[in-house]
Amino acid sequence: DVPVSGNNASPRNHTIMSTLSQEERQYSQQLHQYQGFWCFPAYLEGIMSAQEHFIAQPTDIIACSHPKSGTTWLKALCFAILTRKQFSESSTNPLLTELPHDIVPLIDHLAYKRDPDLPLAATHIPYTSLPKSIIESKCKIIYICRDPKDLLISLWHFSGKMRGTSAEAFPLEEAYEKFCEGVVPCGPYWDHVLGYWKASLQFPERVLFIKYEDLQNDTFSYVQRMAEFMGCPFSMEEERQGLVQKVVDLCSFEFLSNLEVNKSKKHTPAAGTFRIENNAFFRKGKVGDWKNYLTAEMAARIDQITEQKFSDSGLAF
Ligand code: A3P
Repeated sequence: DVPVSGNNASPRNHTIMSTLSQEERQYSQQLHQYQGFWCFPAYLEGIMSAQEHFIAQPTDIIACSHPKSGTTWLKALCFAILTRKQFSESSTNPLLTELPHDIVPLIDHLAYKRDPDLPLAATHIPYTSLPKSIIESKCKIIYICRDPKDLLISLWHFSGKMRGTSAEAFPLEEAYEKFCEGVVPCGPYWDHVLGYWKASLQFPERVLFIKYEDLQNDTFSYVQRMAEFMGCPFSMEEERQGLVQKVVDLCSFEFLSNLEVNKSKKHTPAAGTFRIENNAFFRKGKVGDWKNYLTAEMAARIDQITEQKFSDSGLAF
């Protein structure tokens, strides 16, 4: 869920192209560094505004992620779990008619407004830059992360959609170099993950740390675990009624990606900074797609950085 300024920075001629920075060519806009992480200008203002104004309630659930880690899925799952009583009649569930990003917006957007009826918010802000009230209140955080190799491939494809061109129009080798250097929206990726990982070790009752791969592997158990963590465990009766499986199915890639809203509509956040097709958030939804794109050397270098960055942390992919 990253901003796009349209297609105006996709120059037709090579002369203009060579005057643009790598980020402008990849994302149609420049990245800026703020508190040790890279972000888009529209986010910079939004993050500062959230840091100043966002007041977390003790009952809030904050869905956190680095872009392209599975944010869409996490938002859908949190929403479906939290509102399962309200939308027990599944035909009325907003997930059927709205993109999860429109139901659970990021507090990082300048125009973010709290939905008074929904104690659920989302953010890509790194842990160390979160609004103070999130850290200090008793609210709960659920963080999703993903194998960095798959994240890179997902981001590379998504940035093509942002520019309105094919992914290949920007060389994967360049995207890879920048990723390894940490220069991606909300990057360095490893630092983003480590911030939440350490917090989950320090405050296990407040921060639930989930890997995309584990969630894929056993979505059913994770939905139960998430509900417990959120303070709304499935009752025996709900379990008997098959509500856990209903949440799993409603939020599955196959189901969400085939909904009309996610196939043909566009995402226009309140801030109006960008517009992107909803289907850009649903590409393949597979673990290990990197094998179709990265050479063995490229993969080995990312694995080496991951091992080095996560050494002593107890975290591995
Ligand atoms: P791929 O590009 O590998 O397919 P984010 O939501 O953070 O932008 O991450 C997008 C990635 O999550 C994409 O990965 C997308 O396909 C995948 N995704 C989106 N919805 C999903 C779902 N319901 N279940 C599993 N993966 C999903």
